[in-house]
Amino acid sequence: MNIASRIAPGLAPLDTGITLDALDRAPYPIYRRVRRDAPVLRVQAARRTFLTRAEDCKYVKDRPELFSSDDPETPMKRAFRAHTLMRKDGAEHRRERMAMAPAFNPKVIQSVWVPKYTEIAKDYVSRLPRGETVDLYRLLAGPYAARGLAVLLGLEEATDDQMQGWSQALIDGSGNFGWRPEPFAVSDRANVEMDALFHRLHDRHVADPNPSALSVMLTAEDPIPLSQIHANLKVAIGGGINEPRDALCTILFGLLSNPDQMVQVARDGDWDRAFEEGVRWVAPIQASSRLVTEDVEIRGCLIPKGDTVMTIQASANRDEDIWENGEVFDVYRDRAPHQAFGNGPHFCQGTHVARRAIGQVMLPILFDRFPRMTLPDPDAVTWRGFGFRGPINLPVTLN
Ligand code: HEM
Repeated sequence: MNIASRIAPGLAPLDTGITLDALDRAPYPIYRRVRRDAPVLRVQAARRTFLTRAEDCKYVKDRPELFSSDDPETPMKRAFRAHTLMRKDGAEHRRERMAMAPAFNPKVIQSVWVPKYTEIAKDYVSRLPRGETVDLYRLLAGPYAARGLAVLLGLEEATDDQMQGWSQALIDGSGNFGWRPEPFAVSDRANVEMDALFHRLHDRHVADPNPSALSVMLTAEDPIPLSQIHANLKVAIGGGINEPRDALCTILFGLLSNPDQMVQVARDGDWDRAFEEGVRWVAPIQASSRLVTEDVEIRGCLIPKGDTVMTIQASANRDEDIWENGEVFDVYRDRAPHQAFGNGPHFCQGTHVARRAIGQVMLPILFDRFPRMTLPDPDAVTWRGFGFRGPINLPVTLN
């Protein structure tokens, strides 16, 4: 890290040494140093002020009037060709979020989605070959997340490959901070395909109302505009596949590389604890942006109106103020609130679905079928990501 002296009195220190590539490959040692030396830090490469302490991340997310989600600098609007609920504030945000809420109602999750996810998990796990070493990222985690989400959103007609492809296209477009044309060309094509599918499905979901997100939004008494129904389905596609996929791979890595914990979790059925520890340890969404609407001061640093701050959930979740040995995966550590699902009005709408789909459904089903699974070579697992993070392969021997 190369922290230059403060350029103007009061501003946070400016770092010119951290690169986006380094954050993509190995962010945690960087965050540990930054938390200690300059927890509020302007990072030139990201053109953002990083907030790396848990208290500060929560402070920002809980104060949308000071830290707006409507950041015009983000390429998200361009990638989605829409102004989605994720980039709105106040009443407008609330109205759109509530439109999708019936699909995420806890009773609906328990009575409709958990049985569906269970069916899918059993089916996908039953296809895995016993005795072989296979990449669970590719063969299980991605397809399971895609199929579950397709059903929840009311898009059963989409294939797993389509769902994953669209999701990646939206993510790559939203992260295209260099505004290069190619990622937008890919997200444009994905938008055309998604819109065509959504239109084809309207009549079915109106004629036969059901708890899927598309149906509840279309058949609401006072529906939000169709453009926003489509835009917010895309938010769920962009944000509802890679996080559960990455969470599942991270948890499997954590358990399989800590066999003592694995034995205890399987014996005591502590899958929920394993889930929470996995998403704490490596937050699938590592960072979020907010636009500063008034001059504010955090830890003695002035953050001027118009700046963009990044709450680094990845770092908050290992903050020494809260976590002892936060760098370590430990299912049985003392419980404390982590920030993997965010905070405040934009708190992840899929939290309970993800918890159940992975913690209560997939993990027990997978370990029941392959109780002696092993990770033959933990070093063969590659981790990637600055905004979103997880293993990009997971070679596991299934026994
Ligand atoms: C382990 C899995 C998941 C993690 C860690 C995760 C994490 C997050 C985080 C951190 C945010 C807030 C972003 C911000 O503050 O800017 C968020 C928002 C959101 N997530 Fe998730 N997510 C997960 C799974 C899901 C799933 C499965 C769905 C859909 C079924 C989903 C739908 C959403 C939606 C719609 C929002 C936007 C909420 C709003 O802006 O009001 N997420 N997620």
